[in-house]
Amino acid sequence: MPTQTWNAALYDQKHSFVYEYGKDIVSLLAPQPGELILDLGCGTGPLTREIADTGARVVGIDGSPEMIDKARQQYPGLEFQVGDARTFSFPYTFDAVFSNAVLHWVPDAGAVAARIALALKAGGRCVAEFGGKGNIAAIATATRQAVVELLDIRTDHTWYFPSIGEYATVLEHVGLEVQSANLFDRPTRLDGENGLRNWFAMFGVPLLHEVPEDQRPQIIAAAEARLRGELYRDGQWYADYRRLRVVAIKG
Ligand code: BEZ
Repeated sequence: MPTQTWNAALYDQKHSFVYEYGKDIVSLLAPQPGELILDLGCGTGPLTREIADTGARVVGIDGSPEMIDKARQQYPGLEFQVGDARTFSFPYTFDAVFSNAVLHWVPDAGAVAARIALALKAGGRCVAEFGGKGNIAAIATATRQAVVELLDIRTDHTWYFPSIGEYATVLEHVGLEVQSANLFDRPTRLDGENGLRNWFAMFGVPLLHEVPEDQRPQIIAAAEARLRGELYRDGQWYADYRRLRVVAIKG
């Protein structure tokens, strides 16, 4: 998987939509006072705080030390740890594992699901939302086409965007019973005229990893030109997100 480093400041300034949309999943999680909850891929911690505000006890983990540093600065009363979604473990179990907009970053979904299952108490729940089948299809296609046309390089990204069936199988394989699964379009407004460029700057490495740094602006401009008709309206860019939202229970 191409290395992704995270700019925690840019993430908070320009991509607060990740957290704003995540509030819906916190409602679906319905944390109860006293419950122990793991926020898997907590980023800079705003949803960890939302969960803590309900009276639940919460631990946030993230693979990025930069994100965890920022989370600790912003929410010094909460517990955060650096941890890899494929290998984390705790000496105790959780009532729920929560994850927003993270699981598509880890192609080894089986390893992540196994860790989630181990982290849950019997009867505990996993409530997660991430990019599902067809997520950012227009952005990925336009970028791929621009890279072929301008550089004659064929690329593919390494994100994991499964269908409901694929992901249900992954969860069932580790003993999690799927209670609900929904795949839905959620066009996501990016901030302002430079919204798509900012999105590439924050998240675009998996689409551009074959492209030399100095040629990336040219590729992004070409992708923008291809996408303007489909994803730009009334002065705003909208990323063609499709979300997979699941609730699964450990038997
Ligand atoms: C997503 O949240 O769907 C996403 C974000 C960045 C890159 C790819 C997908």
